[in-house]
Amino acid sequence: MNKRIYMVCHGNICRSPLAKFLLIKKLAEKKVVGIEVDSAGTSGAHAGQQPDARTMANALTHGLDTSSHRAKQFKSTDFAKFDRIYVMDSANYSDIMLLAMNEEDRSKVELFLEAAHPGSKDSVPDPWYGDEKGFEKVYNIIDKACGIIADKLKKGELP
Ligand code: 4NP
Repeated sequence: MNKRIYMVCHGNICRSPLAKFLLIKKLAEKKVVGIEVDSAGTSGAHAGQQPDARTMANALTHGLDTSSHRAKQFKSTDFAKFDRIYVMDSANYSDIMLLAMNEEDRSKVELFLEAAHPGSKDSVPDPWYGDEKGFEKVYNIIDKACGIIADKLKKGELP
């Protein structure tokens, strides 16, 4: 059965859609099969929307079209649908943990950057209130981490 990975941030319009698109791209480049990737936000404030215009514009400068994405809110029933839930920051981690019903749910949740860089405990910065430079920085952080995660998935190194 396919492994199902869920990328989660606050609004599901900046970081987690990018993480979804970039991991899918890296998996295809590295010819890793059998992995599904989706994304959601802890907030439903932007549900139904495309990524933030700044995220879409920045991604396009890297040749990545994210315009097909539509934001949605994480639901507690999603725990059963995904094998691994990668959260972008520590606030997302707390919010998702509050929705977990049991130890199995909790065991699926991990900081995205922790998966790529074990022991880091780092969050992907929230670019929402910043300038264009912040979006470029976030792109590079997520791009690098997705490359590492795709390599680890290929080698079967991740739960
Ligand atoms: P994201 O960024 O969590 O990476 O999608 C944000 C998007 C919207 C808001 C905050 C962060 N907001 O407060 O609406």
